[in-house]
Amino acid sequence: MRLYSDLASWFHLLTHPSDYGAEAAFSTRVFEAASATRPQTLLELGSGGGNNASHMKARFTLTLTDLSPEMLGISREINPECEHIQGDMRSLRLGRTFDCVFIHDAVEYMVSHEDLRAALDTAFVHLKPGGVLLVTPDCTSETHKPGIDSGGHDGDNRSLRYLEWVHPPNERTPTYNVDFAIMLEDEDGVVTVEHDHHVFGLFSRDEWHGHLGEAGFELVEVDVEDPYADEHAVFVARRPVNG
Ligand SMILES: C[S@@+](CC[C@H](N)C(=O)[O-])C[C@H]1O[C@@H](n2cnc3c(N)ncnc32)[C@H](O)[C@@H]1O
Repeated sequence: MRLYSDLASWFHLLTHPSDYGAEAAFSTRVFEAASATRPQTLLELGSGGGNNASHMKARFTLTLTDLSPEMLGISREINPECEHIQGDMRSLRLGRTFDCVFIHDAVEYMVSHEDLRAALDTAFVHLKPGGVLLVTPDCTSETHKPGIDSGGHDGDNRSLRYLEWVHPPNERTPTYNVDFAIMLEDEDGVVTVEHDHHVFGLFSRDEWHGHLGEAGFELVEVDVEDPYADEHAVFVARRPVNG
């Protein structure tokens, strides 16, 4: 995907760290509410540009992991104090455990039941007994909405605007397609248009719960007000204390 490779240096003008404060605060409250003792260490799988991390690092000791070296590079620029490690969330094995594991929208790139289960297995083996997993995909099959979105930001000497086209579910796989038209204005005011095609996984709430249970997790209900209830799905689960 071009957004995470040759276009990665533009990522923070597509989605800016300052847009993530409220969502990062929500995620922090969920981890605190679901943990028996005050959590301190947090592993993020698919941490991307480090936008959530830029807010959560004040509260947690963060280990940030992503498939893309370019994305780790731009996250390091805004989160130099955090540990960054390259790895695929389906196969990463760090050989240590954390109080919390967080998978934000990067879980969208799990495009089969096998992918999703592998990512949940990775989360499980990296949690201490009693540790908490929070996963926030953009939607489930019940809440998926085809349509368009747009946005972008101005940098010091360049700007980006985009149109995001979310397609209906695909028929043969548990996925949907998303196309981005991205306009890049360089320091001379010259605008070029780039296209990037993404495929996102799409699973029902029951399928999510089934995979979490099969991976060994117990589901957790938390009473935390969610300002983004219409914009993402939330799954909170715990590695059993004796699990
Ligand atoms: C939208 S970005 C995540 C942004 C992030 N939520 C933030 O706060 O900046 C999605 C990320 O998922 C990563 N990704 C995609 N497939 C992955 C995989 N199998 N394992 C780890 N990361 C993956 C991409 O490289 C990309 O950086």
